[in-house]
Amino acid sequence: MLHKIMKNSFLVLLVICTVFAILGFYGERRFNMKRSLLHYYRITSGKNTGTMRHDEGRIVSTAYHGNQKKVKGILQPPINISTRIGCHETSNFVFIKTHKTGSTTLRSLTCRFGYFRNLSFLLGKGGVIGHLNNQAVKWSPNSSNLLPPIGVSPSDHANHRNYNISNIHWLFRRDIVRKLMYPASDLKYFTIIREPTEQWLSQFQYFKDYKRLGLKLETLSNTLLPFLLNLTEQPRKPSFNKQLRDLGVPSSVHKNATKLNEALSNIDKEFDLVLITEYFDESLILLKKLLCWRFEDILYVKKRQQPNPLTVDETTRREIRKYNSGDVTLYHYFLAVFWRKVKEYGPVFEEDLRTFRKLLNDTWNICIGNSVTEVSPDRYLYVETYLAQNSSEFCWALVNTKFQMDIEIVKRQGHTSDKRWAAFV
Ligand SMILES: *[C@@H]1O[C@H](CO)[C@@H](O)[C@H](O)[C@H]1NC(C)=O
Ligand SMILES: *[C@@H]1O[C@H](CO)[C@@H](O)[C@H](O)[C@H]1NC(C)=O
Ligand SMILES: *[C@@H]1O[C@H](CO)[C@@H](O)[C@H](O)[C@H]1NC(C)=O
Ligand SMILES: *[C@@H]1O[C@H](CO)[C@@H](O)[C@H](O)[C@H]1NC(C)=O
Ligand SMILES: *[C@@H]1O[C@H](CO)[C@@H](O)[C@H](O)[C@H]1NC(C)=O
Ligand SMILES: *[C@@H]1O[C@H](CO)[C@@H](O)[C@H](O)[C@H]1NC(C)=O
Ligand SMILES: *[C@@H]1O[C@H](CO)[C@@H](O)[C@H](O)[C@H]1NC(C)=O
Ligand SMILES: *[C@@H]1O[C@H](CO)[C@@H](O)[C@H](O)[C@H]1NC(C)=O
Repeated sequence: MLHKIMKNSFLVLLVICTVFAILGFYGERRFNMKRSLLHYYRITSGKNTGTMRHDEGRIVSTAYHGNQKKVKGILQPPINISTRIGCHETSNFVFIKTHKTGSTTLRSLTCRFGYFRNLSFLLGKGGVIGHLNNQAVKWSPNSSNLLPPIGVSPSDHANHRNYNISNIHWLFRRDIVRKLMYPASDLKYFTIIREPTEQWLSQFQYFKDYKRLGLKLETLSNTLLPFLLNLTEQPRKPSFNKQLRDLGVPSSVHKNATKLNEALSNIDKEFDLVLITEYFDESLILLKKLLCWRFEDILYVKKRQQPNPLTVDETTRREIRKYNSGDVTLYHYFLAVFWRKVKEYGPVFEEDLRTFRKLLNDTWNICIGNSVTEVSPDRYLYVETYLAQNSSEFCWALVNTKFQMDIEIVKRQGHTSDKRWAAFV
C-alpha cells in the first residue's frame, strides 16, 4: 500500500520535474525544493511542543529550542525516493579517520547518520572520542577496551563486536576491522586524504611540532625553510607521511617505490572510496552514491577549522613535498581514482553538486546562529559554530556544537564518565 503510494507520488514528481525542466523553470523548482526542506527542518507545529508525527517509518523526534532545550518537532525531510531506485541505504561502514584532512567534519555526518538510526559505533573506552590510535590498542584492540554495542552488557566482552559503524582514528588493518564489524554483505570502507603540503602544515601547527623542535609559531614563516633545508643536522625531526601511516602503511614502505605502489594498489582494493579534502563536496556526492544516501545525509558544517592556517612560499612547499614524498604519491594516485569516479558518475554530477551546494547554503542559513573563534584548553584556536534559535534536532546534530552528539553516542553505549571530554567541552 505504502509502496504503491510512494511509487505513485514518485511518478507524479517525475512528471512535474520533467515538465518544469522542459519549460526551463529551474528556478521555480529549486524554490519549491528549498521550501519543502525549510518546512521539515523547522519545528512544524505548536509553540514549544509540536506534535510527534508518525511519518512512514521515518525518524520523528524531539527538536531543540534555543541552544539546548528540547522541544518536539519533525527531524528529517522526506526520503528522496529517486535516490533509492535500485539501491539500499548502507548502514554498515568503516571510515578510517586520517589526521588534519577535514575528517572531523566527515566523521560528524557519519555520527549523525548512525545516531538517528540507533546504530552501534565501534569506540574505544580510553581515548578521546573513542579513538583507537594509542599504543595499547594499536593493531588488535582488546575487546574489553571497547564500549559495548547498544543492548550488550559492558561486562560481556565476548560480544563487544558486530558494530555497524567505525569512524575513529586507528591504524588500518582490514582483517582486524572486519572481525569487529557486523558482517553485513554491503559493508563499505572509505577514508579521506588531503594535498600533502596543506596536511603537513596543518599537523605541524595543530600538534605543536614546531614547539618540540624549538621553533616559534610567530616567526615560522621565516624559520621553517632554513630549518627544513638543514634537517639532516637537526637532532629532532618532524613527523612526515602521516596520511600513509594513518592508513596502516609503515614507514619502511614509504621510500621504496615498488613496495609503495603495492601498498597503494592494496588500499585501492580495500577501500571503496578515498575522498579528497580539496574536493570535499564533490567527494560527498560520490559517497552519497556509494552508500545510497540522501542529500540530507551528507549535509555538514565545517568542524575544528583553524582560523589562521599557516601559509608558506613555493620554495618551502617544495621542501615539504620532498619530505612527504610518500604522501605525495598517495595523493596523486587517489586523485586520479577520484576523477575517474567523477567521470563514471556521468553528466548529472554537476547538477547534483549544484543542488547539494544550494542545500548547504540553505542549511547554514537555517541552522547556524553564529560562529566564533575559540581557544581549546590546550590553547588550540578553532572556529566553533552555534545553533540558531528554535532549530530542529536535525540542526542540533548538524551543528554539533562542542561534540554534543558524540557525547550522546558514547553515553548510549554505556560510557559513564565525562572526564575525557574535558578537552572538548
Ligand atoms: C523561538 O520560539 C519562541 C517561542 O515560540 C518565540 O517566541 C521566538 O520568537 C522564536 N525565536 C526565533 C528567533 O524564531
Ligand atoms: C531528489 O533526488 C533528485 C535526483 O538525485 C534530485 O534532483 C532532487 O533535487 C532531490 N530532491 C530533494 C528534495 O533532495
Ligand atoms: C532508537 O532507540 C530509542 C530508544 O530505545 C527509540 O525510542 C527509538 O524509536 C529508536 N529509533 C529508531 C529509528 O529505531
Ligand atoms: C584484555 O584486557 C583484560 C582487562 O584489562 C585482560 O584481563 C586481558 O588479559 C586482556 N586480553 C588480552 C588478549 O590482552
Ligand atoms: C547493526 O548491528 C546489529 C548488531 O550489532 C545488527 O543486528 C543490525 O542488523 C545492524 N543494523 C543494520 C541496519 O544493519
Ligand atoms: C644546522 O643545524 C645545526 C644544528 O642545529 C646548527 O648547528 C647549524 O648552525 C645549522 N646550519 C645552518 C646553515 O643553519
Ligand atoms: C624495495 O622493495 C623490493 C621488494 O621488497 C626489494 O626487492 C627492493 O630491494 C627494495 N629496494 C630498495 C631500494 O630497498
Ligand atoms: C547563500 O545564502 C545567502 C544568505 O545568507 C544568500 O545571500 C546567497 O545568495 C546564497 N547563495 C547561493 C548560491 O544560494
